[in-house]
Amino acid sequence: MQAALYHADFGYYTNLRGFGKDGDFITSPERHPAFGFLLGRQAVDVWEALDRPRPFNILELGAGSGALAEPLVSLVRDVVPEVVYTIDEISPSLRSAQQARLTDPAFRWHGADEAAHFILANEVADALPVDRVVVRGGRLRELRVGLDQRAALAWVEHDSVRAEIEAYFAALDYLPPEGQVADVCTALAEWVNGLARRLDRGVALVLDYGASPPRDSLLTYYRHTMGSDPLVRLGQQDISVHVDLRTLVRLAIAEGLQAGGVAQRSLLLNLGFQQVQARLRGLTDRQALAGLVEASGPGSQITALFLVRGLPNYKPAGATGRADWPAPHNLPSLPPDQAEAEFLSQWQAAFGTP
Ligand SMILES: C[S@@+](CC[C@H](N)C(=O)[O-])C[C@H]1O[C@@H](n2cnc3c(N)ncnc32)[C@H](O)[C@@H]1O
Repeated sequence: MQAALYHADFGYYTNLRGFGKDGDFITSPERHPAFGFLLGRQAVDVWEALDRPRPFNILELGAGSGALAEPLVSLVRDVVPEVVYTIDEISPSLRSAQQARLTDPAFRWHGADEAAHFILANEVADALPVDRVVVRGGRLRELRVGLDQRAALAWVEHDSVRAEIEAYFAALDYLPPEGQVADVCTALAEWVNGLARRLDRGVALVLDYGASPPRDSLLTYYRHTMGSDPLVRLGQQDISVHVDLRTLVRLAIAEGLQAGGVAQRSLLLNLGFQQVQARLRGLTDRQALAGLVEASGPGSQITALFLVRGLPNYKPAGATGRADWPAPHNLPSLPPDQAEAEFLSQWQAAFGTP
């Protein structure tokens, strides 16, 4: 998974340019820019809780095409002109795409190791490489990638697992049922440590699909078709694994952070989703936005975790809600849909104002 996604020449993320409808999968900020706009309100809420630091340092891990960063900064800078938005991006091609898109001086791609007041990671932990195990005779065995008799990539069962994997399950006090495959991310501890290190006093918001305890949740995406075989289309398809959020929370608490979570649907509703939705005119716009809170989709399947340091009485607006959101101005909408615009103009020509 490490090589398939991040190999210096052939890795999927190394060369990835596009997301959204021209890519392989779609994330919430790609579905609708109001996602970033609403998370901007959460950023301002953190800024106020911290007694309005200037500059206000935001750090985004794994920013994809920049679709979250752009509307978020445009909202925050209206309130805090001194916002500094740092991006920590592993993919060289995505970093270039971000630099071409995010031209506001608030953005920078250096200093990602410095302390931040607000850290964002949307669907990043699910792109961390995992190990695959299976239980046989009550014992963990590792599924490694090897070659079959025809020299094609194949799963090779090894009669034990590395000590880190053993320790991962021991910490959970859990063993998957006999015969069940599970994908475990032992790199999660280092990832949480990196995040905690950069959170001096402030809040991290981590959004991801969860699977706790870990199971066989590995999925591949190729041109919007979901699959489950990571040994094909190497470097051409995305591979992602649901995140063991329970372990993530345990690790964060061990780093001295406070932790709590809500479903993405609740997060967005608490941040004024309905108020924003009521102002969108286009049908495509409203439908794309509605997808973010769908109970059968990302609305309930994605969890938003708040990891907090140094704010013992803080109640995030995204977790508790607020009734007095100011009326949004410069509300971002999807770029005009050609087909919808043509349909409406033909309708208008035939029947007058729709
Ligand atoms: C599934 S994409 C999500 C992109 C974006 N956050 C979004 O929601 O559209 C994962 C992102 O994390 C980046 N990434 C993966 N591992 C990373 C790491 N260790 N450090 C920084 N970025 C990473 C990828 O290059 C990509 O930008």
